[in-house]
Amino acid sequence: MVFAPTTPLNDGREIPVIGFGVWQVPDDVVVDATLKALEVGYRHIDTAYLYLNERGVGEALQRSGLDRDDIWVTTKVWNTDQGYDETLRAFDKSTGLLGIDEVDLYLIHWPTPDRDLYVDSWKALIHLREEGRARSIGVSNFHESHLNRIIDETGVIPAMNQIELHPWLPQTQVRAVNERLGIRTEAWSPLGSGRLIDDPVIGEVAAKHGRSAAQVMVRWSLQLGNVVLPKSVTPARIEQNIDVFDFELDDADMAAIATLDCGKRTGPNPDEFNEA
Ligand code: A2P
Repeated sequence: MVFAPTTPLNDGREIPVIGFGVWQVPDDVVVDATLKALEVGYRHIDTAYLYLNERGVGEALQRSGLDRDDIWVTTKVWNTDQGYDETLRAFDKSTGLLGIDEVDLYLIHWPTPDRDLYVDSWKALIHLREEGRARSIGVSNFHESHLNRIIDETGVIPAMNQIELHPWLPQTQVRAVNERLGIRTEAWSPLGSGRLIDDPVIGEVAAKHGRSAAQVMVRWSLQLGNVVLPKSVTPARIEQNIDVFDFELDDADMAAIATLDCGKRTGPNPDEFNEA
């Protein structure tokens, strides 16, 4: 069993630096995958209303027999639920499906700028944190302009900004903004949705350390200071992706991986993404 260490957030809470990502994992598959993750040491699960698997994640939490307070649970409000009252209702929907009263981290999934409701949603998240139902609050896929706006209008700085981040898209600029504001960065699709697994540069670093390409990418992202959310439904990979605390990439490895930066996204650009 490998436990990920924790790192502090700007609200004083500690989050495990590796979370189990369950995007695109169907509700029936997510139960076994999450149980496997909990069994090998993950103590942080990252879901969202949109993933349509909160019920299955909740079932796994229940069946694991672990203490609720020993597992960090993140979920997110979907675009069509933005707005103050709508976000409060969405929170009830998510916690109902998860079968828990409080979430560790509640995020606005996308800014969806054309809807222009993310400030209202942020105010709802502030209310949920005041009530103690969302223990920490943050955002996802926010750029500097979106962050500035919610902070200017409420005075409350998110604890987290979860963004697409992998060697093709190291997000140097957003990471710098997050750091300046005291916001922790979380990396979704840290393996480039699996598309970077066969990259020859990653392969060379992996061979040098006798580790897998996935382990190298998780390690690289951790060493940049991110909280990392690898996704897998394959038991051996789930186990492998958290087993990254007994080796370190050196400056030459980090520099080699930095050459892969080409700005290529596997998901949408948050400035243009307004879909339901
Ligand atoms: P699977 O779920 O079938 O095991 P990301 O975390 O960047 O979104 O990447 C997820 C993709 O990478 C999934 O297709 C997943 O496949 C694959 N994947 C996850 N871990 C590994 C691994 N250790 N080795 C190879 N592929 C992996």
